[in-house]
Amino acid sequence: MTERLSLDYNNMMAPRLGERGIEPDRLESFEDRFRAIHEDVARRRDSGELGFFALPYEQDVVRQVRAFGEGAGQAFDTVVVLGIGGSALGTIALRDALLPPGWNELDDEGREYYPRLFVLDNIDPSTIGPMLDRFDPARSLFNVVSKSGATAETMAQFLIVRDRLRAALDDDGYRRHLIFTTDPDKGLLRQLAAQEGVPALPIPPNVGGRFSVLSAVGLLPAALVGVDIDALLAGAADMDARCRSGTLAENPAGLFAALQYLAHTDRDARIHVMMAYSDRLYAAADWFRQIWAESLGKRVDRGGREVFRGPTPVKALGATDQHSQVQLYIEGPFDKAVTFLAAAELPARVAIPDGGIAPLRYLAGHGLGDLLDAERRATTLALARAGRINMTITLPRIDPRAVGELLMMLQIATVYAGGFYDVDPLDQPGVELGKQWTYGLLGRPGFEAPAEPEPDRRWIAR
Ligand code: PA5
Repeated sequence: MTERLSLDYNNMMAPRLGERGIEPDRLESFEDRFRAIHEDVARRRDSGELGFFALPYEQDVVRQVRAFGEGAGQAFDTVVVLGIGGSALGTIALRDALLPPGWNELDDEGREYYPRLFVLDNIDPSTIGPMLDRFDPARSLFNVVSKSGATAETMAQFLIVRDRLRAALDDDGYRRHLIFTTDPDKGLLRQLAAQEGVPALPIPPNVGGRFSVLSAVGLLPAALVGVDIDALLAGAADMDARCRSGTLAENPAGLFAALQYLAHTDRDARIHVMMAYSDRLYAAADWFRQIWAESLGKRVDRGGREVFRGPTPVKALGATDQHSQVQLYIEGPFDKAVTFLAAAELPARVAIPDGGIAPLRYLAGHGLGDLLDAERRATTLALARAGRINMTITLPRIDPRAVGELLMMLQIATVYAGGFYDVDPLDQPGVELGKQWTYGLLGRPGFEAPAEPEPDRRWIAR
């Protein structure tokens, strides 16, 4: 069994797939282009522009996280992360992959006395209201995560939580139930930390939200629920070492980026599906959806020319979506490249009994994991048979080390893909206008929203 993450891209290639596949020569012809991108990324890494590369080695943050966890952090049975987008999705991916399913429903013993972990990520009152009502303020820790320290959704969550804490606890006590994760120097949250005496962990200035999962953003909640963050970072460091190679065939992140790009530009596969064959990895596919979309979906290229580029990432879950999406993937338009996320070994085994029912005897003696794996293999084969490009990322098992490898690989692949698409993977100007207008609509001084046009009643169906 392989001990490290592997990438099988046979089903992307012409020898397996025929004319819909990528010719080996074509991939090889990308060698020079990749080398140039790799060098550019290495240069930007050395200049400090790509701060996420350094995160697996930031022992100081690990010490701070651990010190907090061993001190104040132990007093709580519930940890709630307030954040959105890059400040939430990585933590959800870590929680779902590395804790037993239904963690928050387990009793104290089932959780080995580690706290429950909730991540709000949205502001729908019908979810947040009842959820907050369930938390006992005296036993809960609220981790407010915002790189900018100003995002309206997170700040609204914070104001609500702070109000509840102040109502339930004395004026001094409430701050012991808060910890901020934000920029080390700038922003409102950092300012509030100083003013209100709330502890705060740093997000390095050169680490953007969607590249922050291996900073205190993901490490603190993960450590609080007992995840082995050393192993997580060691896995990320291993992947970083593998990706030091400027040779495409040796660099998993380079291969992933080059193949997705080629699938898009040579084979019209503009929709990049990540299909997890484990419930535990589904949130990692969701995290990938954000980093791929927000980093690569851009109006202008790096030279400032209008290009409107970017693949559309989609997440899917096996075997569930075999009964929902796979019909489309196999027989619909040739506009998708599917990446399967698999684990060579699943964390649990559930045997299928021989129920003495003859037509079902083929299931007996197998585990549900065997069935899931057979479903995945059959789906990859069926896709390939139909000329549909797909690849499989296999984790040796779903543990902190392998998850560290996976997240690091996909982050590095994203900056390489930025090179192939020739766009800046670190900015997100498209998100800004909506934010500004939201502020305007809510009356924030200095911000305006355009007048909302009167709707034409002819175009409204009632
Ligand atoms: O990846 C990003 O930059 C965004 O998704 C941000 O993480 C998100 O908008 C939240 O921003 P912040 O962490 O500043 O509150």
